[in-house]
Parts: sequence; structure tokens; C-alpha cells
Amino acid sequence: MVGTTEPAKEMKRQIKVGLIGCGYWGPLLVRNFRGVAQCQLKAVCDVDIRRVEHVCALYPDVEGMTAPQKLIAASDLDAVVIATPVTSHYPLAKASLLAGKHTFVEKPLATSSEECEELIEIAERKGLVLAVDHTFLYSAPVRKIVEIIQAGDLGEIRYINSRRLNLGLFQKDVNVAWDLAPHDISIILHILGEFPVSINCQGNAHVTPQVEDVTNMSLFFPHNRFATIQSSWLEPRKIRDMTIVGSRRMIVYDDLQTHEKIRIYDVRVDRPPHYDTFAEFQYSYHYGDSYIPHLQQEEPLNLACRHFIDCIETNSAPLTDGRQGLDMIRILEGASASLKMRGAPFVFSAGNGSSPVAALSRNGSSHSGGAGKRRKVPSPAKNRAAALFQGT
Ligand SMILES: NC(=O)c1ccc[n+]([C@@H]2O[C@H](COP(=O)([O-])OP(=O)(O)OC[C@H]3O[C@@H](n4cnc5c(N)ncnc54)[C@H](O)[C@@H]3O)[C@@H](O)[C@H]2O)c1
Repeated sequence: MVGTTEPAKEMKRQIKVGLIGCGYWGPLLVRNFRGVAQCQLKAVCDVDIRRVEHVCALYPDVEGMTAPQKLIAASDLDAVVIATPVTSHYPLAKASLLAGKHTFVEKPLATSSEECEELIEIAERKGLVLAVDHTFLYSAPVRKIVEIIQAGDLGEIRYINSRRLNLGLFQKDVNVAWDLAPHDISIILHILGEFPVSINCQGNAHVTPQVEDVTNMSLFFPHNRFATIQSSWLEPRKIRDMTIVGSRRMIVYDDLQTHEKIRIYDVRVDRPPHYDTFAEFQYSYHYGDSYIPHLQQEEPLNLACRHFIDCIETNSAPLTDGRQGLDMIRILEGASASLKMRGAPFVFSAGNGSSPVAALSRNGSSHSGGAGKRRKVPSPAKNRAAALFQGT
């Protein structure tokens, strides 16, 4: 047989990854990083030896250890993934970045905006990728919703209402707003593409003293747009839904549906352009069809992991980078401040827009965009990294 010579394929070096935190979420990350061809999940760590043994039993080729500092210092690792409780994110991420490792941190990035700023500064100074796992931005329904909105099908977005309710899982170190609302906040910021003017948050701790297990928050955006988020660990039913109301159409996104996660309703209500007498005045209600767009089934976490590795290889900023993590923490800090004030508004400072200054608004109408120029949250279409998702 005449030998055929294949064109020499350049073998890319695999990115070596270690993961800290093998509780509930960590093993899912392990499975997904193992599914990314350009990387090798080499080691896992948990202070609880039983969790290490569990993961190593599933994946015998993975090295297990109980000392996070040993994993962070390992010279054969390029990147560290952190899936521990929130209060340990900052010290572990800081140590990882200082050790020269690209770092992927579970949401929320840290417990304060100062911690986030320090992590961003270290990552930028050392030229490392810092990513935060705002998983839903990688999900097919959210990507489809953004596509529909950007095509102008909904008209002007008027408001967004989101509910994330279930029984548990109770966290010990953060309240339900810090645990569940980051998913909704990340989606809402991504859709609206700007930072809120103010926030109100009310809630109550029924089971663990000082740890709110039910919260309701309202985010007020420029141009009179607003969003509400209900979060609960004390609900008999699991609910994950979001309604996005536009001036022309509306979307209902139910994440618990298997196939029909998004339904677009061709409904709206208009005021008559002019009328002479009250008798002539009539709202016009439009009831059109509803339709369900096709969604490509893909695990969002897999895309998030692949994207992190791609960003390391191409030296680019992730869609969900440290700055997005910082915006999230500023909003959560605002929510906590409002909770302490029993739901009074917390107004974010004008200027850079993502630096909250505690202030009580005396007048509810001040919500509607009176706080000056605000920094835009990068919209997905403009984000350099978003291009990586095209065609996925
Ligand atoms: N993106 C998502 O959709 C999503 C979903 C669930 C959880 N999370 C996030 O994942 C993180 C972990 O949540 P979880 O539900 O898996 O928690 P968990 O309590 O089930 O697991 C945390 C694990 O970390 C270990 N750990 C704690 N401190 C450590 C340290 N300093 N060094 C090494 N190991 C340590 C614990 O022993 C435990 O096994 C949280 O930040 C949470 O918000 C994200």
C-alpha cells in the first residue's frame, strides 16, 4: 500500500486544570472540564477527604488532595477552578492569581466589591484570565432571548419579572439573595445592557437567624425600566420563571420546561394616540399568536468551561469576566443595604454607575433615571467574547 502522509497537525498543548471544592457543584464542573478537548482536569481538592475520595473514585486518573494551597502551588497547573462556599472565594482566588494561575470562580465572585476590585487588578497586572461562573449567560434560552430582543421583536423592554423559588438548599454563609438572585441579576443585566439606578430589597429570616431565606428585590433602571426578583428557599414548589415585557411582544421563559422553555406572546396594550372625550378613550388590546422557538440543547456549564479554556488560549476577556462579577457584587451589596433599611431604596452613585453609595431616596420618582450618566454593562452583541458563541 502506498503510504499517504497526513498534513502535519500542530499538536496544541493542553491547558492543565485543578479544581477546589468537590461538594454539590464541583463534580459537575469536573465532568464538564473533562469534556473540553483542549484541557486536562488533573487534580481536585476539598478539605473534606470524603468528597475528594468520591470524585477520585469516579475519575481514577485525577489526583486528589485536601490542602488547597498545595493545589494552587502545583507548578504543572495552568488554571484553577474554585467551587467552594462564597466566603472562601476571595482568599482562594487571590492565592491562585498570585500563583500565576488563570482562575475560574463560582458565583458570586466574592463577598465585597473591594475584594472583586483587588482580584481584577491582580488578574490584569499578571495578564491572567479571571472568569466568574454566571452560568445562565451560556444557556440556550438566554442566548435566544437576547437574539430576539436584539432583532427588535419585543420593541422597547418595559419590565422584567423573575422568580427562583424552591425548598432549600439552605446556605450557611450567605442569604438567599446572594445565593439565588445572582442568576436572575446576571440575565437581567445582560438583557438590559446597563447598570441600575437604585434597588429596593425586602426579606425575612425564618429558619436561620440573620440569614434571609425569602427576599423580594426591585431594580430600577434608566428610562423608567425596572425588574423584580423573588428568591426563596421556603417554597413547596420549584419555580424558575422570568417574564420579559416589551412594548410589542412579551416572552415567558420557564427554565423547568424540558423542550418549550421560551414562549413568545404577540400581545400588547396601547393607549389611543388622541381622544376628545372620556367616552372615546379606550385602551386597545392586541391578542395575537404565541410561538415557541427551537433551542439547541447544550449544557450551559459545558459552554462556560469551554469558553474559559478558549479565553486562556486566545488571551481574550471572558463574556463573564471579573468586571461582571464586580457589577453583580455591587448590586448584591445594594440589596443588603436596602434589606438593613427594611426595603428603603439604595441609590447607586452617579458617574461610573457601578459604585454604590448608601443613600436614601426621599422620593420614589427619583428612580427614573435622574442619577446622571451611568456606565453601560457591555451588551452581548458588543462584547468581543460573545463572538465566540456564534454558531454554537
Ligand atoms: N453556577 C451555578 O449554577 C451554581 C449552582 C450551585 C452552586 N454554585 C456555587 O458553587 C459554589 C459551591 O456551592 P455548593 O453548592 O457546591 O456548596 P457545597 O457546600 O455543596 O460544596 C462546597 C465544598 O467546598 C469544600 N470547601 C469549603 N471550603 C474549602 C476550602 N477552603 N478549600 C477546599 N475545599 C473547601 C467543602 O468541604 C464542600 O465539599 C458556591 O459558590 C455556589 O454559589 C453555583
